Order: sequence, then structure tokens, then C-alpha cells
Amino acid sequence: MIVVSFFSAKGGTGKTTFNMSMASFLKYHLGKAVIVLDADTPEYNLYNSRVRELDYKRKNGGIDESALYPVWKVLDVTPEGIESLAGKLDALRGSVDYVLIDFPGSCVKDDAIWTFARRGVLDLVVIPVDMDPMVLASALQLAEIFTHTGQKVLLFFNKVHGKIPSEKYDAVAELFRSRGFRMSECRIKNALAMSRDAESGSNYLRSTICFPEKTVRDLNPQLIDLFKEVIGYEEREKTQAEGTVPV
Ligand SMILES: Nc1ncnc2c1ncn2[C@@H]1O[C@H](COP(=O)(O)OP(=O)(O)O)[C@@H](O)[C@H]1O
Ligand SMILES: [Mg+2]
Repeated sequence: MIVVSFFSAKGGTGKTTFNMSMASFLKYHLGKAVIVLDADTPEYNLYNSRVRELDYKRKNGGIDESALYPVWKVLDVTPEGIESLAGKLDALRGSVDYVLIDFPGSCVKDDAIWTFARRGVLDLVVIPVDMDPMVLASALQLAEIFTHTGQKVLLFFNKVHGKIPSEKYDAVAELFRSRGFRMSECRIKNALAMSRDAESGSNYLRSTICFPEKTVRDLNPQLIDLFKEVIGYEEREKTQAEGTVPV
């Protein structure tokens, strides 16, 4: 079982969008057993997206709900509640391939992500970065803290803007790499479809009930490369840890 969270200490960077989209890719495209935990109280945006999508489907022909991955709303986000949840995740080993967790966007001592990181529950934290100076500063700090405590991280550019020269992105990527952090080559474009839900009637990329592969390939194909990178990296790590050599 691999536990991944797209996380940043800033709001609006893409945490929920990517946790949702990666879960949908794993379940509906690759057929993996997936569970999503929404710990982002009080908004519970990911859980509420699922509720909205189901409402829409129920009014428009229905859907086989047993074929969807579960989205669990984490109600008790006190340090004790999170400790106990982290323990319970162990019970899922064997029946679940991937757990994706949407945390609140803050990272101080008693926050949920911190409890998970300290307990070594998260195999990988994936940090979306954009060119906003506050987001960059916060991502650098976050990567520093996590790496210091042994938590593995991968950073990637989200909301990549055509008007910003790619050399600027290269320079920032170099800065992150020079500090020893892993920065993905995948750059996710700023695309309107990334902010549209499945019930919008137009091209959408966000959904908890399907992975719109054709739209992704047409509008943001690097999304698939990023998800494959996360999977490939984690599987390699596990294989090495188990002492077997990949053929
Ligand atoms: N690559 C992108 N292009 C366009 N919009 C995006 C992109 N990534 C995220 N968004 C949009 O930005 C907003 C914030 O994203 P969200 O995933 O809710 O962030 P967070 O969970 O970090 O607060 C949402 O409307 C989302 O759909
Ligand atoms: Mg969110």
C-alpha cells in the first residue's frame, strides 16, 4: 500500500485537484484499489465534489456507485484523532493499493500532515509550486522541513503560464535541485478545464467519478506523466527497500 498526499502550506495551489485526479487516474484508468481521505476540515472540498457529482449523476441517468473509490470524510482532526487514524491505515494493507490524503493547507506542530509525516505514514508528499513568490517561499521551506525529518518529497510546477518564459521555470527548478530536492520535469499547464467539475457540461479535468483521459491527453497530457512518475518512483523505492532487484 502506498500513501501519497499532494500538499502545500498555501491554499489554492492544487492540492485537492491533484489528490482527486490522481485517485481517479489510479482507480478508473489503472484499475487500482484506491481510498481517498478528506481531512481538509471544514471545507471538505474533495468530499463535497463527490457529493455534487453523485447528485448530478442520480438526476441524470445514474451511475454504478459500487465502482467508485470511497472518499472518507475525516471528522476528528485533533492530534489524537489523527494519531488513531494513522494507526487504522495499517489495517488497510493488503486490500488497498493507494491511499490519497487531502490535508488542510497548513503545517505547524499539531497539524494533521505533520502527525502523519512524523509517524512515517506518508510514502511521498507531492508539492505543487507556482511562480507566486509566497508559494515559492513556502514550498522551499516545506521541502526543507520535510527532508530534514526524513519525509520524502517531490515538487512540480502547476498552473504553468504560457506568458512566463520557460527559462524562469528552469531557473527555479535549478534552485530547488541545488538544495537537493526532487523537482519533476512535468509542468502542468494552467488550463481552464482543471477548474471545471464533471457536471459543468464543458471539457473538465476534475472528477472523483471518472478519469477523462481524452480531455487530459488533449489539454494537459503531462498530468499522466506526473502520476506515472509518482507511481514509478514509489514502486522503485519499495522494491529497493524489500531487497529485490527490478528486472
Ligand atoms: N493547472 C491548473 N490550471 C487551472 N486551474 C487549476 C490548476 N490547478 C488547480 N486549478 C484550480 O485552482 C483552484 C484551487 O485548486 P485546489 O485544488 O482547490 O487548491 P487547494 O486544494 O490547494 O486549495 C481550483 O479552482 C482548481 O480547479
Ligand atoms: Mg483544497
